Amino acid sequence: MRSILILNGPNLNLLGTRQPEVYGTTTLSDIEEMCRTYAQAISVNVAFDQSNHEGDLVDALHAARETKDGVILNAGAYTHTSVALHDAIASIELPVIELHLSNIHAREAFRHRSFLSPVAIGLICGFGARGYTLAMDALVSHLETAS
Ligand code: DQA
Repeated sequence: MRSILILNGPNLNLLGTRQPEVYGTTTLSDIEEMCRTYAQAISVNVAFDQSNHEGDLVDALHAARETKDGVILNAGAYTHTSVALHDAIASIELPVIELHLSNIHAREAFRHRSFLSPVAIGLICGFGARGYTLAMDALVSHLETAS
């Protein structure tokens, strides 16, 4: 069975109450439950994690290299700043999907640049919490095609 990691970055622990007009009212634990239920339906193992710390996200990506087949990463604001996450993705040789709840290209100019897109296999943004299961489908289908 395929194993995937869904990794969430800073401030995503506050989903549900954080700027609901932008990010919706679904909490991160709602999203985790949704992903776990969907993982069973499509027969994949899923691990779900969140950190507010850049180095912890780098460590989680390194650990995934040994144990996972691919990663879905919502790096939050680090998307727009982190050379370290760019390098981690480039180093682990796993397919990584960049994910955002909001459409980052329809927002402030500073969100239009992503350090992750050049090393991700693809980007899903703008579909809210539903983006997580869309990303799971995309990753599993990528893994099937690649094998
Ligand atoms: C986000 C978009 C980022 O620009 C922002 O900093 C976040 C959340 C999203 O899911 O829409 O924290 O990654």
